[in-house]
Amino acid sequence: MSNHLSQQHCPLENTSTFAEEKPNIPSTIPPTNADTLFEAQTYLRLFSHEQNHSLLDIQRLADVTHEIQQTGTYRQTDEELVYGAKVAWRNNTRCIGRLFWKNLLVRDMRHLTTAKDVFQALVEHLFIATNKGKLKPVTTIFAQQLPGQEGIRIWNPQLIRYAGYKQADGTILGDPLTVSLTEQIRRLGWQGGAMTPFDVLPLVVQMPGQQPQLFELPSESVLEVPFSHPEYAWFTELGLKWHALPAISDMSLDLAGIRYTAAPFNGWYMGAEIGARNFGDERRYNLLPLIAKKMGLATNSTRTLWKDRALIELNVAVLHSFAQQGVTIVDHHTAAQQFIQHERQEKAVGRRTPADWGWIVPPLSGSTMPVFHCEYENTIDKPNFFAQPLPY
Ligand code: ARG
Repeated sequence: MSNHLSQQHCPLENTSTFAEEKPNIPSTIPPTNADTLFEAQTYLRLFSHEQNHSLLDIQRLADVTHEIQQTGTYRQTDEELVYGAKVAWRNNTRCIGRLFWKNLLVRDMRHLTTAKDVFQALVEHLFIATNKGKLKPVTTIFAQQLPGQEGIRIWNPQLIRYAGYKQADGTILGDPLTVSLTEQIRRLGWQGGAMTPFDVLPLVVQMPGQQPQLFELPSESVLEVPFSHPEYAWFTELGLKWHALPAISDMSLDLAGIRYTAAPFNGWYMGAEIGARNFGDERRYNLLPLIAKKMGLATNSTRTLWKDRALIELNVAVLHSFAQQGVTIVDHHTAAQQFIQHERQEKAVGRRTPADWGWIVPPLSGSTMPVFHCEYENTIDKPNFFAQPLPY
C-alpha cells in the first residue's frame, strides 16, 4: 500500500485534515442490504471472471443473496477472501509497489474472538512477514464488522511504531506523528518506554463493544536496522535506526460488501519513506539540519541546496544499512520501474492502472523517474483498503 503515508505539512491549510488523507475515507454510513448485495454481486462477477474464466457463479450469487436477506451480511469463502485481499492491494491507487499484488500471503483469522488471541495473531504476523529480514507481503484478516455493531479495531496506525512524548518544554521526544496515540496509550495504563527517540509502542486491540486492551510486543518480534553511512563514519554515532517492517494496521479492508475493520497488511519499505519522510519531514524527526551540520554544509542560504544534499546522504544511509543487515528494501528508482512494469502487465490483461500521482511519485528526485512524466486517473475501485475514523 501507500509508500509514503504520513501527514504532509501544507502551510496554507490550517485544518486538522491533511490533503493526503481526504479522499481515502469512505462513507461510514451503514450499508443497506441493497448496497451489500450490489457490492457482493460486483465482486463475485470479477472473481468468476478473473479466477474461473466464467461469467458468474449463479448458485453462489443466489446463496449470498439469501444470506444477506436473512442476516444483513454474509460470509465469504476462503477463496473469495484471499483473492479479494489481493485485488484490494491492486486497486490501491497510492501504492507504488503493486507489481507484487499476487504474492500477498493472506492469513484468515476470522475465527478469533478475544483481544488476546488477536494480539497473538499479530505477533505471528510480525514473525512471518519479517522472516528474519527477507520480508514477505502478508495480511492477517480478523472477523468482519457485523450489522449494527462496531468492528474490531487496532488503535495503532502500524503494528510497529515509535512513541512520541510531549515534554514539559513543549518539544517532542520520538515520533511527533504518534503524540496523541502515545497519550491515549498512557491513559490506558502504559508506563512509557525507556524514553528514547525509538520506543516501540504497545498494541491496543479493541473488540466490538469492549474496552480497549493493551499488549506489549515481544522484542524478538520487532526487527530494527541501525543506520550507518558508506562514507561518513560519524553517521553511526547519531544512533539512528528504524523498524524493518511497515505494517499498516488501522485501515479497513472493504471487500464485496463486507468490512474487515482489522486487517493489517505489510509490504517492505521503499527507502525514501524513511529517509525522506520519516526522518526528513519537519513534522517528523526533522533530521536535515543535523545531517547538514555534520556534513559541514552552509545552512545560511537555501541556495546551497543543503537540504537536498543532506536528504540524499540520509537516503544513501538508509538503503546502505538495510542492505548491510540483509533486510529487504527497495530504492525509489527501482520501485518506479517496477510500477511501470506493473502497468504494462495490467494492460496486457486488459486492465487499467489507476493511480494517485502525488503518492506514486517518490518524495525525492521526482523528475528522474518515469512515473513523474505520466498522467494517472485516480479512480477508487473496490475491493480496497480505506482509512477509517480514529477509534479514540
Ligand atoms: N510510509 C509509511 C512509513 O514510513 C509506511 C506505509 C506503507 N509502506 C510500504 N512500503 N508498504 O512507515
